[in-house]
Amino acid sequence: MIKNDLKSYKIKTKKSAELFKKSKKLHVNGVHHNIRFFEPYPFITKSSSGKFLIDVDSNKYVDYWMGHWSLILGHSPKNVRTNVRMQLDNGWIHGTVSKNSIDLSEKISKAVPVAEKIRYASTGTEATMYAVRLARTITKRKTIAKIDGGWHGYTTDLLKTINWPFHKSESSGLTDEKHIISLPYNNLEKSVKILKTKKNDLAAIIIEPVLGGGGCIPATREYLLGIQEFCHKNNILFILDEIVTGFRFRFGCLYNTMKLDPDLVTLGKIVGGGFPIGVICGKNELMKYASTSIFSKTDRAYIGGGTFSANPLTMMAGSTMLTTIKNKGNLLYKKLNSFGIETRKMLDKKFGGSVITTGIGSLFLTHFLSDSTYEINNAADAAKCNIKKLHDYHFHMIAKDGIFFLPGKLGAFSDVHTKSDIANLAKSTDEFLTKFKK
Ligand SMILES: Cc1ncc(COP(=O)(O)O)c(C=O)c1O
Repeated sequence: MIKNDLKSYKIKTKKSAELFKKSKKLHVNGVHHNIRFFEPYPFITKSSSGKFLIDVDSNKYVDYWMGHWSLILGHSPKNVRTNVRMQLDNGWIHGTVSKNSIDLSEKISKAVPVAEKIRYASTGTEATMYAVRLARTITKRKTIAKIDGGWHGYTTDLLKTINWPFHKSESSGLTDEKHIISLPYNNLEKSVKILKTKKNDLAAIIIEPVLGGGGCIPATREYLLGIQEFCHKNNILFILDEIVTGFRFRFGCLYNTMKLDPDLVTLGKIVGGGFPIGVICGKNELMKYASTSIFSKTDRAYIGGGTFSANPLTMMAGSTMLTTIKNKGNLLYKKLNSFGIETRKMLDKKFGGSVITTGIGSLFLTHFLSDSTYEINNAADAAKCNIKKLHDYHFHMIAKDGIFFLPGKLGAFSDVHTKSDIANLAKSTDEFLTKFKK
């Protein structure tokens, strides 16, 4: 961390420092998601609106973290706010079937053809947990393949091979780790070799079409097609985790653009309109294995939700979000995608060969190359980069220029960002470069 940046941050976040001491007393590590902690202490947010986060010391930050990338229209967009307020007057948890869930599902199923049947949960973690359970039920097999660096939430099944070195257990308290195998992203030959060792017990392969937490790395179409072909040939379910990518680049999923044919798709984030959500989508012939009216206990999977699943508030927020995005039309995605392209180019140029900025559409992450990295195709390449420098870079922007990336994580453009934000990002990057050279 650059000394001056640390000093500036401490001066401007005095109330946050005091409050975070309290938070540490009350909460594990002071946070409720490990990634939300950063050194020396995270600022405490008082409010958010549009493109800004405002902390308890009244500092304003232009936000590129955007609620874990769920806020594609920025914080509290007007339509969502209005309809959620209206919903509050009609109750926010009915605990019964609500019309709002039907409204949202109609929109999702039109835009995501694989979603012939939908089941809502309250988090993406649950959605991937249920997708995996359903796959095991359908195939009567146990092993699940995931990707090195793939993040699908904190589920006991999938909390494996996330951080380098991938073979080390991510957490104690996990059971059944032997039923998870892991593949190098974008390396079809090696992946197929690994898959063949477990072919007869493989229930599913679960993949993010853009590795998010693992480094903002898009999969090649050839890779995903190859994996899909292996699945289809061997009666293995192909699960695409589109919790980040769903409705991020177009009104629908990335798999449509890539002309893929997944069996199950998980969604979350954007489709909840900023409220808690996880969605399992699939073809009728597969989702029916969750039906209590078709199958007996031994042949069906219980796949949630829970007390808060499909609560009318989330459903209203999600439904309004999708309507608003749809009404904005292609212009929205054109704008966001062009901002992403411009920013990736600008950052690569400024750093002059010492970085690679990965991403697609409105998502981007700058990797500071080490002596042993020349290209970033998977999470192992990303892990070899200078991660400390990336944290220093993000922290510099927080401390000096009121620009917020969760340190180390990819940034996302939202509809509320403007060209001037890209210019400010460029300016802050220049300052960082000057300091680093000193
Ligand atoms: C690809 C992917 N899957 C699953 C999850 C888990 O979702 P949640 O945090 O809502 O449990 C995330 C969260 O970031 C994610 O990025």
